[in-house]
Amino acid sequence: MKMNDKINELIKEKEKIKLGGGIKRIEKQHSSGKLTARERINLLLDENSFIEIDAFVKHRSTNFDMENVDAPADGVVTGYGTVDGRLVFVYAQDFTVVGGSLGEMHANKIVKVQDMALKMGAPIVGFNDSGGARIQEGVDALSGYGKIFYRNTIASGVIPQISVIMGPCAGGAVYSPALTDFIFMTEKTSMMFITGPQVIKSVTGEEVTQEELGGAMTHNRTSGVAHFMDKTEEDTIKRVRELLSYLPSNNLEMPPVVRTDDDINRTDEMLNDIVPENPNKPYDMKEIIKSISDENEFFEVQPLYAGNIITGFIRLNGKTIGVIANQPKVLAGCLDINASDKAGRFIRTCDAYNIPLLNLVDVPGFLPGTNQEYGGIIRHGAKMLYAYSEATVPKVTLIIRKAYGGAYLAMCSKDLGADQVFAWPTAEIAVMGPDGAANIIFKNEIANSGDPVKTRMEKIEEYRNTVANPSIAAQRGFVDDIIVPSHTRPRLISAFDMLESKRENRPSKKHGNLPV
Ligand code: HXC
Repeated sequence: MKMNDKINELIKEKEKIKLGGGIKRIEKQHSSGKLTARERINLLLDENSFIEIDAFVKHRSTNFDMENVDAPADGVVTGYGTVDGRLVFVYAQDFTVVGGSLGEMHANKIVKVQDMALKMGAPIVGFNDSGGARIQEGVDALSGYGKIFYRNTIASGVIPQISVIMGPCAGGAVYSPALTDFIFMTEKTSMMFITGPQVIKSVTGEEVTQEELGGAMTHNRTSGVAHFMDKTEEDTIKRVRELLSYLPSNNLEMPPVVRTDDDINRTDEMLNDIVPENPNKPYDMKEIIKSISDENEFFEVQPLYAGNIITGFIRLNGKTIGVIANQPKVLAGCLDINASDKAGRFIRTCDAYNIPLLNLVDVPGFLPGTNQEYGGIIRHGAKMLYAYSEATVPKVTLIIRKAYGGAYLAMCSKDLGADQVFAWPTAEIAVMGPDGAANIIFKNEIANSGDPVKTRMEKIEEYRNTVANPSIAAQRGFVDDIIVPSHTRPRLISAFDMLESKRENRPSKKHGNLPV
């Protein structure tokens, strides 16, 4: 064969592979509101930056007539490219080819890009759209998943791993996304579950739809498995790009600095009035976060889950900062099981990727109740304390209003290693809220008084004036400074600048024993 003919044949073959399962299946994919694997990759990566590898890989199965099944690229497109000019590895399961099912060679392709991403110190983004383990390939398919899970774990905390669910993701297959740092889902088309509706019906008798069981809303609002939800695949992929802009390429790098025209000395008078005089009245913590951040931007993580705690990224003077903040608007900002899990995981993600932590505190305590106690709030709350104590990135805490009891400590007090603690004049730092405290320590005075209601109010006020304010904490050095609220942004920027060269060593050990 002449060289020209060989080249033409190669081009033809590549074109055929690019068509995946063919026009009909691509149309079916589009008509169900889904993009193809290659379309997704092209949207994620900078224009024309995608380099495909292993397009010629073929499965080796001969079971059930598989030798006659043509599976271009074996149902998964893999390679690398750039996002905002930075190297990113990628794989996208192709549902148009044998339902994106995972067999031996399909898994080997994913494993290859996982290994490359780890070696090169670059993030990896995986698009999941698959019928799961390729049934015809039996144990070879199961082994493939095992290899992927293993690498997810080895790479955890070294390179950012992002899972984008854009179709079915069922059975044990869900554990690869669950082992990664962030899970994105798209409304109506994403699905994650360990056992599907039919199995559930036959085992427990429960009737549930796929969407109710494992749709985007379920995992964003109820289970907390996923971190982001968007209406369309295009919006989802845009958000993945945005997330990457806050993260370093690996644990040895700092996140990229994004130049800003926002004045580092900008003050905001609104902050002087945002905390209501009535301590039981809520306000929106997100307004404070947006007021202090560059360009008033806040990239929230898990916005629909455990709304009593807010987690997400801002930039201060162009640098990524991870924010953990109590939300007085939801459950009065109490910490509970879900909030502890959400915050604990986020703190560890930031610490792994050199992202300093800003903790905004207005917390009346841990949520009381048998549900919480029986559900193990003790071990869940401990995760937060552990994560804060373990984190060696710069940690700055700002006490805005309530900081009571164990929750004061759990929100990264000085003693859990906060490098700088600031308080607004509205801060109340105490073992418990003035109401509860007065009931206990002035029990007799209140009971014996001619007007118990009046005496109680007086004692609450006395307690608040004596103990529940930032002065004593500042006198003891637990608070480094009491600041004017409107000056919060410049003060935080200066603190994080000062902390930039922070180094903290811990005793060497195999690993700690996080109360998982
Ligand atoms: C082989 C599969 C497949 C699979 C789908 N296909 N899943 N082939 N192994 N696991 C094939 C179909 O035969 C079909 O081929 C094509 O992909 C498209 O599938 P359809 O069923 O036509 O699509 P749709 O109606 O959209 O339904 C999608 C689906 C369904 C809900 C995902 O295909 C399904 O239920 N598949 C099986 C899911 C499952 O039980 N997987 C095992 C999970 S357990 P043709 O040639 O007709 O187009 C698991 C264990 C992992 O994954 C363990 C890890 C530790």
